[in-house]
Amino acid sequence: MKPIQVGLLGIGTVGSGTFSVLQRNQEEIRRRAGRGIEIAMVADLDMTRAKQVVGDAAKVVGDAREIIANPDIDVVVELIGGYGIAKALVLEAIAAGKHVVTANKALLAVHGTEIFQAAAEKGVIVAYEAAVAGGIPIIKALREGLTANSIQWVAGIINGTTNFILSEMRDKGLDFDVVLKEAQALGYAEADPTFDIEGVDAAHKATLMSAIAFGIPVQFDKAYVEGITKLSGADIRYAEQLGYRIKLLGITKRADKGIELRVHPSLVPAKRLIANVEGAMNAVVVHGDAVGTTLYYGKGAGSEPTASAVIADLVDIARLHGADLAHSVPPLAFQSNTLGAAGKELPVLPMAEVVTSYYLRIRVADEAGVLAKITGILAHADISIDAMLQREADEVGGEGSNPEGTQGIPQTDLIILTHDTREGDMDQALAEIQALPTVLAPITRIRKEELN
Ligand code: HSE
Repeated sequence: MKPIQVGLLGIGTVGSGTFSVLQRNQEEIRRRAGRGIEIAMVADLDMTRAKQVVGDAAKVVGDAREIIANPDIDVVVELIGGYGIAKALVLEAIAAGKHVVTANKALLAVHGTEIFQAAAEKGVIVAYEAAVAGGIPIIKALREGLTANSIQWVAGIINGTTNFILSEMRDKGLDFDVVLKEAQALGYAEADPTFDIEGVDAAHKATLMSAIAFGIPVQFDKAYVEGITKLSGADIRYAEQLGYRIKLLGITKRADKGIELRVHPSLVPAKRLIANVEGAMNAVVVHGDAVGTTLYYGKGAGSEPTASAVIADLVDIARLHGADLAHSVPPLAFQSNTLGAAGKELPVLPMAEVVTSYYLRIRVADEAGVLAKITGILAHADISIDAMLQREADEVGGEGSNPEGTQGIPQTDLIILTHDTREGDMDQALAEIQALPTVLAPITRIRKEELN
């Protein structure tokens, strides 16, 4: 059978990896796919660099639309990223009858409904294994391997940059700003790391997993997104003393009234395997009613790990090319006529309705009755305390320990862990506590996930 013809849009890190892995493993991949997979064309603005990567093996062009217009190309691999030109090119490729493989989580999390709809109408595949957790086959696991289950929750470390930063903060006892600079110098973090450190990249990935796990449309606009920029070394140390690690988790969970979809720093018990995922590695835990808890671990970024996922999609497409796609695996795991029917699917819950437990750090004046006032407010809000820690007075000191206007007042940090509470109730209680004259600095609140 004639090899399937692929056009790459962009040959940076992932594109080069895709090219070299396809070349290196071509014989095994051909035996698996039932036909060869050939990169016939590559489009890149930097044509010189592209030619250095592919040599004479593929035609290099500067204009991506030359690939889309070529009737011999069966599959377009979009590795440009972002919502702008990438969206236009993906929709044009679909309109031209090409299958699409993309690693673009931002594009699918925001415009997925439109893109999957266009692909269904045209009878082509849009595949995106590389968009979530790089080389970990989590899309395949959720969509196919766990298809018997009613998924209860998914929680993942799905951003390597932030996990590297948090690991360094814990290992070396450094604050966020210092480690971010180190990560940038080492090339782990982008020059503009906003999407990573503010949790946006993780939220794009969590949004996709949420749709696949629960049969809801992709709804990035409903995700709660909080990054790691406000975490202090002190919170990481206190968490450790209480038996927890702090990780940036992407969480999506089935609750009574709807679906939780949230990204934020979370305390995770140090004994959980996922709490021990260090450096730039990714890991996703999925809990299904039949299978129980399963864990997927691996490299979430990088040239060949991401290429591994791109090529898996190419093999799926090579096997299905020319077949009736009506019986193929639906892109979002559920048949499209069961998605997005107004009012039928579970809503994504606002953050106030989320139920979780909390770590609170409250800087207070160290005087009689302060703790009683705080615990009184929590008790009145029906918030149950799980554990408490009071920093020794001689540990409180140094920079930031005397917020403006509080010089000379003896002060201490109260660390409180709570049991499960509705976030809206916690918001109200924290507003009351913050207003106490004996509370001397903004309260730190970090959510806690037991993941059991
Ligand atoms: N920037 C991402 C990360 C990789 O740090 O994990 C691509 O999604």
